[in-house]
Amino acid sequence: MIYPILTAEEAAEFVQHGMNIGVSGFTVPGNPKVVPPAIAAKARREHAAGREFKINLFSGASTNDFTDGELSRADAINFRAPYQSLPELRKHINAGDLHYNDRHLSEMAQEFRYGYYGPMDIAIVEVQRIDDNGDMVLGTAVGNTPTWLQCAKKVIIEINDQLPESIYGLHDIYVPADPPMRREIPIYHASDRAGTPTAHVDPKKVLGVVRTSMPLGMTTPFTPVDEVTQRIGENVCQFLVDEIKSGRMPKSFLPIQSGVGNIANAVLNALETSTDIPPFQMYTEVVQDSVLKLLESGRCTFASTCSMTFSREAMMEFFAKPELHDKLLMRPSEISNNPEVIRRIGVVSMNTAIECDLYGHINSSHVSGSRLMNGIGGSGDFTRNAYTSIFLCPSIKKDDCISTIVPMVTHCDHTDHSVDIIVTDQGVADLRFKDPMQMAEEIIEKAAHPIYRPLLREYLHLAGKGHIHLNPDLALSFHSALAHEGDMRKANLKI
Ligand code: COA
Repeated sequence: MIYPILTAEEAAEFVQHGMNIGVSGFTVPGNPKVVPPAIAAKARREHAAGREFKINLFSGASTNDFTDGELSRADAINFRAPYQSLPELRKHINAGDLHYNDRHLSEMAQEFRYGYYGPMDIAIVEVQRIDDNGDMVLGTAVGNTPTWLQCAKKVIIEINDQLPESIYGLHDIYVPADPPMRREIPIYHASDRAGTPTAHVDPKKVLGVVRTSMPLGMTTPFTPVDEVTQRIGENVCQFLVDEIKSGRMPKSFLPIQSGVGNIANAVLNALETSTDIPPFQMYTEVVQDSVLKLLESGRCTFASTCSMTFSREAMMEFFAKPELHDKLLMRPSEISNNPEVIRRIGVVSMNTAIECDLYGHINSSHVSGSRLMNGIGGSGDFTRNAYTSIFLCPSIKKDDCISTIVPMVTHCDHTDHSVDIIVTDQGVADLRFKDPMQMAEEIIEKAAHPIYRPLLREYLHLAGKGHIHLNPDLALSFHSALAHEGDMRKANLKI
């Protein structure tokens, strides 16, 4: 191998205060694992010596504790984009300790190539192997790595010996040309391959290779399906069956996108057992353990993703079963979440909301309008371009004190212009072919919890006139009641 072998500490010495640093991966999988903690250690040493040391950190999506965790604990991040989900980093962002910009995941790579963030100084990339020509087999996620390799002035490689040889062939690396030279992305079915199995870097840019032996897969405990999430899953399935029966969706069905978390898992579990929905493909950004089960049972015939967000056990199971390997492709985020492809192949999107309002606006990212939870992730990429866009959430939370259906959301990530369906444990609110006031009635009667329906009806009654009835004094009354009394049922609707 032509590249110098480095320790993590030696690699970290190349990183200087104020640099733009890109990391490989998408969610926990595929991130570098030893160089970021060494950068955090360097930051602590610099701070102890009275010197400034902070970097601007760019990723595919959220990252692991070795990256966002270690670096935020060391107070080593100045700017962060495009998505995060680590409680530690969230705490710092909400305290105003660093700058965070929540971007659509499909746009981050091209925005970097367009020059919005200046040059990328160093990319740190986990790979299974790299040859002397700079061709490399990536790890268990792609994220924005191909663009980082293209844009970065220098690159540090982590070769993780836990990545099996059989990962070769699971990646589809394609970077679109930038306007005015961009052409259509040649993906017409979720299973089409558009690019190459390897990524490439100019070997002259490689500062060196750090050898690692780090376990793969997620360790976050999996919360089992409960009564509420199971009802949401069943309601989604029933909706999809009705769509197929009515002819609004083709009988052969359509590729689905499913977001992160327990509600998404419950929906996928329900799809596994449904006998009325034919086997389907997925065009999505993450595949969780529930998708492995669907691939094994044949219910899902192909999964296009950006990242294998499997648990450790599921990851080992997947690699031990070569018959599954031609049923999955990992692509860069700008392709897995690409608006052009999502619209062309007719993806049915399913994402989780923090709250929804009576007019179909969705808050995915900010609790009570001010506290960042995670970010929009890919929910905007999929919602805006889906064949049918569905949002999911329980109708109530925190022992009935929170209604997720409110007169007005405190922060709006997705508007009524893009949202088609809201599903809660109570039922399915279909917003299509309705004006805003018809939507409001549908949402109250089908999606809101019965204990909140009288209050929501009363708001609507008091809300005034216009294309959208809105009473500015009362619109946030549910949120004031939560803030001051800890209970939305105490909303004061007296004018
Ligand atoms: N009002 C006030 N607080 C609320 C709330 C509401 N309507 N909804 C949730 N919260 C609070 C919860 O009480 C909880 O607080 P806690 O941590 O103190 O218990 C917290 O916010 C998180 O809520 P929870 O229900 O546990 O969230 P979740 O794990 O089901 O995740 C999202 C829901 C929306 C945060 C998550 O799906 C997400 O980040 N989505 C955006 C990204 C995305 O959609 N990606 C998909 C593309 S793959």
